[in-house]
Amino acid sequence: MSEDRYLTFALGKGRLANKTLELLESIGITCEEMKDKNSRKLIFTNEELKLRFFLAKGPDVPTYVEYGAADIGVVGRDTILEENRNVYEVLDLGFGKCRMCVCGPAAAGELLQHHERIRVASKYPHIAKDYFFNKKHQTVDIIKLNGSVELGPIVELSDVIVDIVETGSTLRENGLEVLEEVCPLSARMIVNPVSMQMERERIIKLVNQIREKLEESK
Ligand code: PRP
Repeated sequence: MSEDRYLTFALGKGRLANKTLELLESIGITCEEMKDKNSRKLIFTNEELKLRFFLAKGPDVPTYVEYGAADIGVVGRDTILEENRNVYEVLDLGFGKCRMCVCGPAAAGELLQHHERIRVASKYPHIAKDYFFNKKHQTVDIIKLNGSVELGPIVELSDVIVDIVETGSTLRENGLEVLEEVCPLSARMIVNPVSMQMERERIIKLVNQIREKLEESK
């Protein structure tokens, strides 16, 4: 273990990053530079603790971590499952809780019972494919969308969607409902497998500190 080596964090931009920074701050890890909302800077350093942080698009976080460009990443479990990268998932951070679900109009529920060949729209084609092909043994056509997936059944692009449900408002406001639950989701901490060996002590210490803090606030 080298004392001089920086540990680099890749954080998924947006709410997860803010929550992660709050959590890190609660265990004494701060990065003042990062709080300047007007800054266009992409990477921030805490010289004292030898830590670096950068913000990336969620789906890119597992990529940075797999290649070792970041030692540690924080990202939603949805992204981890979809990207399927070679990373260790070490901690459930407990925030960003939601569910991956198969949704559609109530009438589409029937289509899920008889192994019919249906059309499934999703921002998460890998998760959708794994669920229908491997768990339900149902052959389906998967259509990749990049957002506003709820439109799929409304404009008859697809029969159902596989998407994230948090409060359920988007579904309700568009006349759709949860038909089946695929899996629960929340923010997770991931680690590069080589970093886990080379910087084991520092990483384990950090993970334990965060775990204790999370336990305390339960
Ligand atoms: C996500 C998700 C749902 C919505 C669920 O979309 O894809 O559309 O949030 O939240 P709710 O159950 O609280 O309504 P997001 O806002 O990230 O935008 P997107 O549709 O462009 O992916």
